[in-house]
Amino acid sequence: MARAMIDPGRDCALCPRLVAFRRAQRAAEPAWFNAPVPTFGDPNARLLIVGLAPGLRGANRTGRPFTGDYAGDLLYSTLLDFGFARGRYDARPDDGLALVGAAITNAVRCVPPENKPTGAEISACRPFLARTIAAFPKLSAIVALGRIAHDSTLSALGAVRARHAFAHGAAHAFDRLRLYDSYHCSRYNTNTGRLTTGMFREVFERVRREMQG
Ligand code: URA
Repeated sequence: MARAMIDPGRDCALCPRLVAFRRAQRAAEPAWFNAPVPTFGDPNARLLIVGLAPGLRGANRTGRPFTGDYAGDLLYSTLLDFGFARGRYDARPDDGLALVGAAITNAVRCVPPENKPTGAEISACRPFLARTIAAFPKLSAIVALGRIAHDSTLSALGAVRARHAFAHGAAHAFDRLRLYDSYHCSRYNTNTGRLTTGMFREVFERVRREMQG
């Protein structure tokens, strides 16, 4: 599938509020990426991780999902530990880190003010998520980081949300794949203890185990 189908163009105009925010960031920080952040990973991915949206000074600055974001430290170290990545994560898009049988995307590709996309923005970006899921023919697992990623992934899969409630550690079976839920690995969730490193690792340990089984 053509890359343009799965990733919005640099000047995607679907969400007026996000376009205005992007314009302001381009003026304030011209050296930053400041554009919809494309999916990153292995074209043969069996695992897709769906985050919420790029962080202002993280993925929006660097152009790679979770890269430079606080949440990226836990996510990438976990992926390295479970063999879903190789190399060294150094919070830079040129750190040489490669995903192995895995890919990372976001439910919303543009950085939203205050890290909070609106319902309309989540819906506007969903076709990109649906095409991203469809573009990985070997996909057997999706890890949704947080409720928004979970809900948007369900809609992208054409599933009924009421039948699949979000819960940390839950797994939902579909024809082609399983959807695993985790609390988002955000600074807020880890600082408050809602998500511990152990809880997060258990999700990926299970994905790894069930992929092999
Ligand atoms: N960075 C991302 O790319 N996505 C998130 O959900 C959080 C930080």
